[in-house]
Amino acid sequence: MCGIVGYTGPRNSVQPIIEGLSRLEYRGYDSAGICLKLGGKLEILKKEGKLDNLRGLLAQTNPTSQVGIGHTRWATHGAVNNDNAHPHGNEEYAVVHNGIIENASVLKKELQAEGWVFKSQTDSEVFLVLLTKFAKTEGSTLKAIARAFNTIHGNSAFVIMEKATDQLYCVKRSAPMVCGINLTNREVFFSSDPFALVGFAPDIFFPQDSVIGRGTITETKAQIEFFELDLTPSTRFRGQANAISIDATTKGHYEHFMLKEIHEQPALMEKLAAWAIKGQGQSVYNGLKGKEPSFFHITACGTAWHAGLVIKNFFEKFNRIRCNVEIASEFRYREPNLKKDEVGLFISQSGETADTLACQELCHEKGLKTFSVVNTEGSTLFRQCDENFLIHAGMEIGVASTKAFTQQVLTGYLMSMGYAGKLMSVDVYQEIKVLSDRVAAICEDAQTIKAIAEKLYQKKGFIFTGRGVYFPIALEGALKLKEIAYVHAEGYAAGELKHGPIALIDDNMVNIALLGPELFDKALSNVEEVKARRGLIFAIGPKGHSELKAVSDMVYELDFNGLPNLATIMVNVVLQLLSYHIALLKGTDIDKPRNLAKSVTVE
Ligand code: G6P
Repeated sequence: MCGIVGYTGPRNSVQPIIEGLSRLEYRGYDSAGICLKLGGKLEILKKEGKLDNLRGLLAQTNPTSQVGIGHTRWATHGAVNNDNAHPHGNEEYAVVHNGIIENASVLKKELQAEGWVFKSQTDSEVFLVLLTKFAKTEGSTLKAIARAFNTIHGNSAFVIMEKATDQLYCVKRSAPMVCGINLTNREVFFSSDPFALVGFAPDIFFPQDSVIGRGTITETKAQIEFFELDLTPSTRFRGQANAISIDATTKGHYEHFMLKEIHEQPALMEKLAAWAIKGQGQSVYNGLKGKEPSFFHITACGTAWHAGLVIKNFFEKFNRIRCNVEIASEFRYREPNLKKDEVGLFISQSGETADTLACQELCHEKGLKTFSVVNTEGSTLFRQCDENFLIHAGMEIGVASTKAFTQQVLTGYLMSMGYAGKLMSVDVYQEIKVLSDRVAAICEDAQTIKAIAEKLYQKKGFIFTGRGVYFPIALEGALKLKEIAYVHAEGYAAGELKHGPIALIDDNMVNIALLGPELFDKALSNVEEVKARRGLIFAIGPKGHSELKAVSDMVYELDFNGLPNLATIMVNVVLQLLSYHIALLKGTDIDKPRNLAKSVTVE
C-alpha cells in the first residue's frame, strides 16, 4: 500500500527519496509525489500514475533541496488524481500519510465551518489542516502534531515537514514507521518500510504507537529524538542495525522479482529446516512438545489464508488439535466463540495486514494466547503476539506471494512436528531435503512449463481442482493466476465440481487438475467428468499413471515418493511457474499487478 520516504541531511533529498519510493513500488500505488524546500518555500510536485510520471516532472527543473518528503499513494479516500496524491501542503506544513482517519468527514465539516479550505478529497488533508490550525494556537510544531494526532481516530502514520526549519517529524498508530540515521553522512530518514533505507541508513529505530520522532541536522551531527504526546522524552522505541541485505533490492539476473523469489525457494527451505531442527530455532520448536492447545483459531488473508488451510491438516492429522481456519476480515466481525485455553494463530508475510492484526487484537482481548507465523521480524504482528514463528523467507518484493507461502506451510509443519515431539527424527529433515531437490528440479524445468503456458494463455477461464490437501493448493493456484495474469480463475474442491461449476465447462475452459497419490482414483474420476464435457485438461499428478495421461490433454508428472507430508509445496511451485509464464505471455506488470497492494494496511 502507500509508501513514505522522508529525508533531511546535507545532500539533495530527491535522490534518496525517489530511490526509496522506487523500492516501495512493490507495495502497490497509483500516484506519487514529493515536497521539497525551494527558495525557502514548500513546493509540492505530484502526479497520478507510476513513479516515472513524477520523475518526468522532476526532470523538467532538476530541483535541489536538502529536506523533503515523498509518497506513493494507494487510493482509499478520494479518486486517483493529482489533487488527491500526497504530499498535502500549505505555506507552513506538508504531510504524507499512510492509513485511514476514521473521523475525517466529521472533522472536515467542522474545519470547513470554521473557514478552512480543502484542496483534495482525502482524509489525509484533515491532519494537515488540524496541524496548521493547532500550530497557530500552540505556537510549536511538536505540540500541534500531538494535538492533531490526539484528535484523529484510526490507524495512521504521518511524516511532516515544515517551512520554518529543516527538521522532519513522524508519528504513527498501528501503522509501520521506521526512522533511520547515518551518523557519518549526517542524514536522517523516515519511512514506512526499512527496505527503503537499505544502503542509506545503517541504524534504524522503530517508534511505538503515539511516539513523535523528530529528525534534526546540525553543522556537526544528525540526531533523532523521540517524544511522548505530552512532549516528555520517550524511550518507547527499538533500535537495531538494518538487517536487510542490499541484494534484496535487485532482481539479479532474473527478469522479475517473482521469478527470483520462486527460484530462491529450495535454498530457503533448507535454511529454515537447518535453523529450526539443527540451529537456534531448535529450542522454540522442541519447546512445543506437550503444549498442544485445545484449539487453534487460524486467521489470515489471501495467500497466507491458503497456507493456513494446509497447516490445519498437519495439526489435525499429527497433533489431533482442532482448528478453524478463517479469512481475517470475516473472523473479526463474526463474534467468534473464543475460549481462554485456545490459541489464535495469525499467518502473515508482512505482519502489517490490517484485518489480520484486528483478529490478533480480538483474540488477545478475549484472553487467548496469540502466535504468529510471520516473515517480518519487528512488524506489528510480531510485536503484538505472545510467540512468533519466523518463516525466514527474506524480503518478498513480488506482490504475488510465492516463497512466503512455501515457508509458511513449512513453518506450520515444523510446529506440528514440534508438538508431536518428532522434530529431531531423521525423516523430517530428510523430507525437506527431498522437497528442496524436487523444487529445484522444477525450477530448472521452466521450459516445459513455459510450453504448457503457451498452449493455455489465451483460454477463457481456468478451474483449478484438488482434493484433500490439494484443495488449498487449487485455491492458491487460482489466486496466483488471477492476480498476475488478470484471467478468471477459480479454485474448487474436485468433488464439488458437479455441484455447480461443471456447468462452466466447454472447450474454452481449462481444468487444472491437481492429483496426489492420496485419493488418486477419486480425483481421476473428477477429471473424467470434465473430459466428458470437452474441457481442456492440464493435470499435475504422480508419474507413471497411463490412465491420467489418456484422459488429460497435458500432464506434468511429478515424483511424490519420499514426500508423504509436503508434496503440496512441490505441486504449488509448478502452479507458481505456470502463472508466471501465462502472465509473461499476456504482458502484464508481473511484480506490480494492477489494483493490488503487497501489504494491505487498511481494512
Ligand atoms: C495482499 C497480497 C497477497 C497476500 C495478502 C496477505 O492481498 O497481495 O499476496 O497474500 O495481502 O498479506 P500478508 O502480508 O498478511 O501475508
